[in-house]
Amino acid sequence: MQISPSVLNADLSGLADEVRRVEAAADWIHLDVMDNHFVPNLTFGLPVVESLLRQITIPADCHLMIDDPDRWAPGFAEAGAGSVTFHVEAARKPRMVARDIRAAGARAGVAIKPGTPFSEVADLMPLVDMILVMTVEPGFGGQSFMAEMLPKVREARRLADASDVDVWIQVDGGVGPDTIEQCAAAGADVFVAGSAVYRSPDPAMMVEQLRASAENAARP
Ligand code: DX5
Ligand code: ZN
Repeated sequence: MQISPSVLNADLSGLADEVRRVEAAADWIHLDVMDNHFVPNLTFGLPVVESLLRQITIPADCHLMIDDPDRWAPGFAEAGAGSVTFHVEAARKPRMVARDIRAAGARAGVAIKPGTPFSEVADLMPLVDMILVMTVEPGFGGQSFMAEMLPKVREARRLADASDVDVWIQVDGGVGPDTIEQCAAAGADVFVAGSAVYRSPDPAMMVEQLRASAENAARP
C-alpha cells in the first residue's frame, strides 16, 4: 500500500518545501503535469519537474495530463522521475510510449479517464508497471470521488492477479479518509491524495493515516 500525495493544491510557489512536508511519510510525490489541451488547466512542465527533482529525495510519480505523450513522456523519465504515467486517450502509440519510458529508466504507467473503459488498456497490462484509474475527471484537485469507477479497479485487479503480471493499480481523484478504504478493498494499491493531505493540518500524519486505512481495508 503506497501513498502518493499530489502537490496540485499545495503552495506551488514553494514546491520543494511542500514536498518536504510529506517526504518522510510518503512513498512517492505525485506531480500533475497539465497542458491546457488534454485537460482544461495548466500547471507545470518538464523544466519545473527537473528543478524540483534536484531538490528532493522522494521518487517522483509524474502524471502527464498532456497531448502527445509520445513526444514528451520519455523526457520526464530521463530527468529522473521514478514513474511516468501517460493517458491512453492522448497517446498515438501507447505501446511505444510505455517502452520508451521504461527504456529511459522509469516505471511506466497508463491512465484512463472516467469515460474510458478498462478494456482500452487491458492489452497494455504486460507492458506497463501501473494502471491509473481516474476517480474524477482529470484537471482539478478537490473534486468528489466517483465510486462508479470502482468496478474498473476490480477489473484491473482481477486481470492483474489472473495474468500474474506485477502491475500496480493506482487511483487518483477524491481519495481521502472517507474513500480510501473502498479503493483498497476493490484492489487498488497506490493512492494519490491531494487535498486530503495538503489541506490537513499535519500532512505527514494524514499520509500515515491513509496508509493504515488502506492496509486495514485490504486485509482479507
Ligand atoms: C486531478 C489530478 C489529481 C489531483 C487529486 O486531475 O490528477 O492528482 O491532484 O487531487 P484530490 O486528491 O484533491 O482529488
Ligand atoms: Zn494526478
